Amino acid sequence: MPLLAIETTCDETAAAVVTRGREVLSSIVASQERLHAKWRGVVPEIASRAHVERIIPVIDAAVTRAGIERPEIEAVAVAVRPGLVGSLLVGLAAAKGIAATLDVPLVGYDHIAAHLYACRLARGRPLPTSCLGLVASGGHTSLFRLSGPLDLERLGGTIDDAVGEAFDKAAAILGLGYPGGPEIEREAAAGDPRAYRLPRPLAADRTQLNVSFSGLKTALRYLVRPPGSSPETPPPEGKRRADLAASFQQAAIDSIMAKVELAVEQTGCRAVAVGGGVAANTLLRERLETWSDRQGIDLFLAPRNLCTDNAAMGAIAWERLERGENDGLELDVRPGTDRSRRA
Ligand code: KG4
Ligand code: ZN
Repeated sequence: MPLLAIETTCDETAAAVVTRGREVLSSIVASQERLHAKWRGVVPEIASRAHVERIIPVIDAAVTRAGIERPEIEAVAVAVRPGLVGSLLVGLAAAKGIAATLDVPLVGYDHIAAHLYACRLARGRPLPTSCLGLVASGGHTSLFRLSGPLDLERLGGTIDDAVGEAFDKAAAILGLGYPGGPEIEREAAAGDPRAYRLPRPLAADRTQLNVSFSGLKTALRYLVRPPGSSPETPPPEGKRRADLAASFQQAAIDSIMAKVELAVEQTGCRAVAVGGGVAANTLLRERLETWSDRQGIDLFLAPRNLCTDNAAMGAIAWERLERGENDGLELDVRPGTDRSRRA
């Protein structure tokens, strides 16, 4: 009997049906990208309202696509942190309604841990008990040591922007669309990553596992629009834009790789799991694959379709259900959940 997982932490309304054997029977994601594009970032109020409109159709679609009827659902899971509070509450209300009606267990799960669980889904077997985890997304950039799917110790991460947020802002500076990651990646394909030398703050600092992207973003802005120039300066075009995109992408990925490598050195972990929207980036995937092959590291990369937000990764809830845990209708969103991703 399957689990219904619900995800509304930010701007994707998603539901999935996953069996106890971790087989994903369906995974539906209704993206709000179009609604937020003109603001070049997620607007919380627009996000919550769009979740309200979509949540029930998305859940119905997930159930139908899985080839089951609602009464066959054995348990309901919902992401309860971190996220935009208004968005989280919509998923939580729907999850409570269904769990109450069917009289089945309801469990909350952590969206970040779930991003790493996507790596486990792809491999079809649990991650090793000592594993490094990198979550690189639009709201988060963090390195963890995992001693189990639910046990994450944060080792470091961004001290300012998340890497995906930096991609989104860089795309805006270059006059590209939203979300910026795929746009930068496409533009960079025609560019020279060595054309511009952009900063990699903290990358050479071996005393910490933190990363920083705000200086990189500012450096790009000043290249495009030097201090004192008119705010009306049009964005770059042609080869110059491709070179800027490629140089930015290279610097951002270099910064991440430096800390993944340092974390492996410092912890001695021989397995690394990588998830989150930015893990869909081809350059990052290639760099991780080449490096892990050379170092003999067991690399668990989330499959591309499970990198950006989805509910299939809510399969992590099985880890709690199998322990007999049930939050029931008392479940609430967790404190400190607000995740700002300003336009
Ligand atoms: O995991 P996700 O869907 O949402 C959060 O939990 O934040 O990640 C979305 C982020 C966006 O910032 C988007 O620009 C970035 O992931 N992203 C990428 C790529 N695809 C999505 N960044 C770089 N390269 C990509 N191919
Ligand atoms: Zn996410």
